[in-house]
Amino acid sequence: MNNIHPIFDKIASREQKEQQLRQRGLTLWFTGLSGSGKSTVAIALESLLTERGYLCRILDGDNIRCGINSDLGFSSADRTENIRRIAHICNLFNQTGIVTLACFVSPTNELRELARQIIGDNDFELVYISTPLTECSRRDVKGLYAKAQRGEIADFTGVTAPFEEPADADITIDTTGRSVESCAEEIFSQIIKRIEYGKL
Ligand code: ADX
Repeated sequence: MNNIHPIFDKIASREQKEQQLRQRGLTLWFTGLSGSGKSTVAIALESLLTERGYLCRILDGDNIRCGINSDLGFSSADRTENIRRIAHICNLFNQTGIVTLACFVSPTNELRELARQIIGDNDFELVYISTPLTECSRRDVKGLYAKAQRGEIADFTGVTAPFEEPADADITIDTTGRSVESCAEEIFSQIIKRIEYGKL
């Protein structure tokens, strides 16, 4: 950190930005197995929020692992670094007053706790998309479960790498047999108070 000269005191404050946007920054951290529906539900939730004027940012494997984290794989150390960087990005969005929907497998309590610590308890809501493994591998949207079962992908979460159920989820949703919209509406109704400007 030598030779680093922070300019934080010259930047408009979070409060000013939240006032400008008329909303409060918050990270909704979606955890769950690959194919459980994290990004799909987050996209529907983003629509509900956007229709009501809230500015959101979705972060998921597509925009993070193809870009800023393209140097990382799925070893335990790489998953930790993946989540560490993402959590700092969430923090920057929250400081800008933006509602951030972060969709990552984040398979262990330790990883989710790391994210919570970096983002800060006040700005962090844990959403567990609890769709069971049998349903995720039945859907197999990306064909990855079949590949993992054939031994073609190492350390695949739920098959050859662990997924720990979160001990401290704020919201838990099993998407089995439910419409995407009803899942998004359930989350919306539980979090709207936390992002409404001037309501806390
Ligand atoms: S995390 O464990 O580090 O949080 P992340 O959410 O970024 O994972 O990426 C998971 C996505 O990468 C999965 O939805 C799947 O599409 C893909 N993927 C590729 N290899 C693996 C693997 N070994 N384990 C889990 N997901 C994988």
